[in-house]
Amino acid sequence: MSRKIFIFDTTLRDGEQVPGAKLNKRQKIEIAQQLAVLGVDVIEAGFPCSSPDDLAAVKAISENVKGPVITGLARAVVEDIDIAWEAVRNAERPRIHVFLGSSDIHLQKKLRQDRATALRQAVDAVKYAKRFCEDVEYSTEDASRTDFEYLCRVLDAVIKEGATVVNVPDTVGYAVPDEFGEIIRKLREKVPGLDKVTLSVHCHNDLGLAVANSLAAVSNGANQIECTINGVGERAGNASLEELVMVLKTRHATFDAHTDVKSQEIYRTSRMVSRLMNVPVQPNKAIVGANAFAHSSGIHQDGILKDRSTYEIMKPEDVGIRQHKIVLTARSGRAALRHRLTELGYTILPEVFDRVYNRFINVADRKKEIGSEDLHSIVEIELTRV
Ligand code: KIV
Ligand code: ZN
Repeated sequence: MSRKIFIFDTTLRDGEQVPGAKLNKRQKIEIAQQLAVLGVDVIEAGFPCSSPDDLAAVKAISENVKGPVITGLARAVVEDIDIAWEAVRNAERPRIHVFLGSSDIHLQKKLRQDRATALRQAVDAVKYAKRFCEDVEYSTEDASRTDFEYLCRVLDAVIKEGATVVNVPDTVGYAVPDEFGEIIRKLREKVPGLDKVTLSVHCHNDLGLAVANSLAAVSNGANQIECTINGVGERAGNASLEELVMVLKTRHATFDAHTDVKSQEIYRTSRMVSRLMNVPVQPNKAIVGANAFAHSSGIHQDGILKDRSTYEIMKPEDVGIRQHKIVLTARSGRAALRHRLTELGYTILPEVFDRVYNRFINVADRKKEIGSEDLHSIVEIELTRV
């Protein structure tokens, strides 16, 4: 049996930090319910101390959504932890998620405190959260730019205080895969307590490497990945859930790891998040973009029609898309045209087909895409010329 990788979805917290994407309580519950159907292990439902609305939404999700662990984010201070607990206490499986900066950049320029003080604050926060909740996650914000020895000390200390999950974020998307993988490998070597807790990563996409960094971490011993639907999140976003899940499914043998996500629910979830957050998905987005399973060049269409494995490494049905799209353009070939005409109910004699094809190419040179109506008129013109 391969290693299980826990999927921690933060669409409703980090994802919702996208400007203009704010969700109301009803919308957050709708998405959380769908995330439970999707089969994520953890839903980070919000940052309860950030507003009364968010507190109410996290509370409602905790009370109504069954299955996944429900967590709320808190800074490493008593007031935030109290509110986070109020938000998640009625969940079937509550978790408090506490974070504090750990890099010198964050400590000196943002928090204006020294390492020793921050370390004490981290330990105190975990100790306080543990008074309420057995499951406490601790995040070392900006971990990838943190002095490694200090990072080890913080993780070791919070684990000794009872943290059940420790998270290593690449908060500003600065890491590159080899380096990030190496951080995780060395942490496993230097912090023995990690064997008893869940080791999580949380990667941002500023350099377009969030998924690659998360996978490098998985290869080096991480067993939880934090991610969002459609990769939405601060700035360039977070690691995209659908990409991570489909990499681990499609390249299962490479990683020897799996998730419990029901991949057939991916597309439905992606559409829901895009619609409710009002954040469109780019057409070439891997897995869920409009073109992710569209074939438009003649050579590719010919291959696909002969055998899908020629140009498809995963089945659209596996992510909940009914079927691939054969798009007819000026780059399409005869095989695709013949296939589409057959679908439309035409049986065209070979001598007529050449004329239909030539007319199709002429029209396609003028239009971006040829639809069924165009095909009907092209065929009618050529048939009446016989
Ligand atoms: O990016 C980050 O470091 C975070 C933490 C709060 C986990 O979102
Ligand atoms: Zn983040």
